[in-house]
Amino acid sequence: MTSRSVSLYALCGSQRHASSSRRLLEALQSACPGDVTIVICDVIGDLPVFNPDHEGGKTPPLVETFAAEIRKADGLIVSCPEYAHGIPGGFKNALDWLVSRDEVPFKPLMFAHASHRGDLVLAQLTDVLQTMSLQIVQDAFLRLPIAGKSDEAQAQMLLEARESGLLSASLGRFARAIAAST
Ligand SMILES: Cc1cc2nc3c(=O)[nH]c(=O)nc-3n(C[C@H](O)[C@H](O)[C@H](O)COP(=O)(O)O)c2cc1C
Repeated sequence: MTSRSVSLYALCGSQRHASSSRRLLEALQSACPGDVTIVICDVIGDLPVFNPDHEGGKTPPLVETFAAEIRKADGLIVSCPEYAHGIPGGFKNALDWLVSRDEVPFKPLMFAHASHRGDLVLAQLTDVLQTMSLQIVQDAFLRLPIAGKSDEAQAQMLLEARESGLLSASLGRFARAIAAST
């Protein structure tokens, strides 16, 4: 447990209504240790296509809202599926809006991965996010392979992960890494 509150902003790489990546983030949200809060981002699918001509004073208001949430957060959680051996276009678009801004450098980040597959997207995200100077906390990495399972099986796995302390333990490691870095 950490001594101060930690606010986390969670980014989901899937826009699907029944997204397993999102369900994992929601399970983490419900398993937060007392000093940790998670807000799940809801704007990624609505961001305009990135265009460097629309940065600075021309930045779209929704991008400014997105960036402000990231600035407020002590750390980010990324839960992202693999599409065609890579990063889903909508998610990469969201990241591209942040590349030239000052919100993300040195921001701690943990992965929560909802599949037993997808190692290629994890490797690509690691490369992209490190290029953007985010600090990936490997010790907090969480993998819960619910993707592709029925709604009932997913709910059961998420419940067991919550009750066993798997989810809160990962969040605790992340919160401690954040506390140690500030
Ligand atoms: C367009 C598309 C491409 C995909 N490509 C891959 C892939 O290359 N490798 C993989 O492991 N899974 C792939 N998948 C499967 C998804 O990663 C899997 O369905 C995952 O559960 C989706 O995440 P979500 O449940 O959060 O939406 C693909 C799915 C879609 C829709």
